Amino acid sequence: MTTLIINGKQIAEQLRADLAGAARSLKDSTGVVPHLAAVLVGDDPASAVYVRNKQIACHKAGFKSTLHRFPATTSQAELLELVHSLNAAADVHGILVQLPLPKGIDATTVLDTVDPAKDVDGFHPENVGLMQQGRPRFLPCTPAGVMHMLRVSGITTSGKHAVVIGRSDIVGKPMAALLAQKGADATVTLCHSRTPDIAVFSRQADILVAAVGIPLYVKAHMVKPGAVIIDVGINRLGDRLVGDVDYAQVAPVVGAISPVPGGVGPMTIAKLLKNTLQAARATQPIETLNIGPLAETHRGD
Ligand code: GUN
Repeated sequence: MTTLIINGKQIAEQLRADLAGAARSLKDSTGVVPHLAAVLVGDDPASAVYVRNKQIACHKAGFKSTLHRFPATTSQAELLELVHSLNAAADVHGILVQLPLPKGIDATTVLDTVDPAKDVDGFHPENVGLMQQGRPRFLPCTPAGVMHMLRVSGITTSGKHAVVIGRSDIVGKPMAALLAQKGADATVTLCHSRTPDIAVFSRQADILVAAVGIPLYVKAHMVKPGAVIIDVGINRLGDRLVGDVDYAQVAPVVGAISPVPGGVGPMTIAKLLKNTLQAARATQPIETLNIGPLAETHRGD
């Protein structure tokens, strides 16, 4: 059996090209250039790389991006003041506060302060609630990217058993919600650190999403032959970047797998751009918008 390698890099490139075209037409019809403001606090090197990649993607797609960088010693009050000023800035359409935030800053308080209409990460409780109710404003970028990868790879979810490992607010919980929602129609099991024997569940998965944050956690004995494996992990192992799935072991026995790097990571960034474009469009009267094919993709793809 040949294994389908789900090429997230290529799928994301296509999506970013579509977004670049849509941004051009928004600019032509309204003069508006989508603008993402990124907030980076502290000196976590991985966070700096992620933010840099998001900025590069913005520029390549013709979006504006600005970086607000602060030392780890920044107070929560200072950060909240910045968020309030970005909320009030008419030319800022999307606000991204890179996580994790340093100790002493309550991430929930900061994220709750972001204007929900600019919350392009989809982390604000209003946006989480709308997503849970199946009427999303902004879909969280990583789970939305995974749904998009599945769809364009011709992998259906309806009636399938999807198992998600990891219950983070950023990936695991919203991923389970999107897979279970009407239209996606998977039967979903959500495993986490207190699940006694995760392999019992992962072996039943038609679609397995690994978002556990442990390098090479999913081994060949934990998957069903022929299953679809989506690896959300990005872990540094020595000088290598590896996922949560032991790719060398698992790839030969499954039907499809997303690699790391070049799988989910680029999709997350592309979906961030999509949300930023959507936020920019939402500031304009509907009649000025030349609504294209990206306008109706609200279902998690
Ligand atoms: N840290 C890790 N992943 C993410 C993400 O998707 N968004 C933000 N803001 N921070 C993160």
